[in-house]
Amino acid sequence: MEHQPGRSEYKKVWSALSTTEDQAKLHVIGVTDEAAFQETGEETLRFLQNTVGIGKEDVVLEIGCGVGRVGKIVAPLCRKWIGCDVASNMLSLTAQRLKGLPNVELVEISGYNLSGVVDASVDVVYSTVVFMHLESWDRYNYISDAFRVLRPKGRIYVDNINLCTDGGWKVFETHRAFSPANRPPHMTQNSTPQEIETYLKRAGFSDVLIRTDDDWIRASGIKPEFFANS
Ligand SMILES: C[S@@+](CC[C@H](N)C(=O)[O-])C[C@H]1O[C@@H](n2cnc3c(N)ncnc32)[C@H](O)[C@@H]1O
Repeated sequence: MEHQPGRSEYKKVWSALSTTEDQAKLHVIGVTDEAAFQETGEETLRFLQNTVGIGKEDVVLEIGCGVGRVGKIVAPLCRKWIGCDVASNMLSLTAQRLKGLPNVELVEISGYNLSGVVDASVDVVYSTVVFMHLESWDRYNYISDAFRVLRPKGRIYVDNINLCTDGGWKVFETHRAFSPANRPPHMTQNSTPQEIETYLKRAGFSDVLIRTDDDWIRASGIKPEFFANS
């Protein structure tokens, strides 16, 4: 069997999953049809608006932006949209999709942090459909580095599939069925609400809200105006 990269070799894993637009779209959200694909982006926008909100003066940063499914909808609503991803193929597809939008910046990141993004320069950080592909340490690494790049009173949104609901458990069982040797490195790993809440609080966020209305955890927090190192 061909040697597979390890789960935390994110650059290798996700570059190989995004060699064509259709393949990338399938791995991003499971659909290639453009109208259906765009509808999923509108749905994510609704979650963002109901949690952190997107304002026209905001600098907004997405961790793991994929092909710009959400960025295409968010960028016209804010001052600047920064799309960060570990895979250069994904960023090229985002550049194509968002062509013509003047307020877009794309950053290829290491896969472990937001190095290269200036401290206290961003109003909203969000990451959607990404945490299930990360090791838990890297989930926290991103939340902790988001705290660094956010301005005081900046907002954060992250999500993952909930281990603790029946639907979330079904996802867990589907993946448990893979034999250990055949587990794909990008395979979904759920979170518990407590895990995400712990990371947000440990990183220093206040007003942490964990929503568990369906089989997802949708979490938000605010960087306090004054904190230990300020
Ligand atoms: C399922 S896709 C979701 C893309 C986008 N957030 C969306 O919802 O349309 C996961 C994305 O995360 C990126 N990714 C995976 N591991 C990453 C990491 N360690 N750091 C940054 N991006 C990562 C992948 O390249 C891919 O673009």
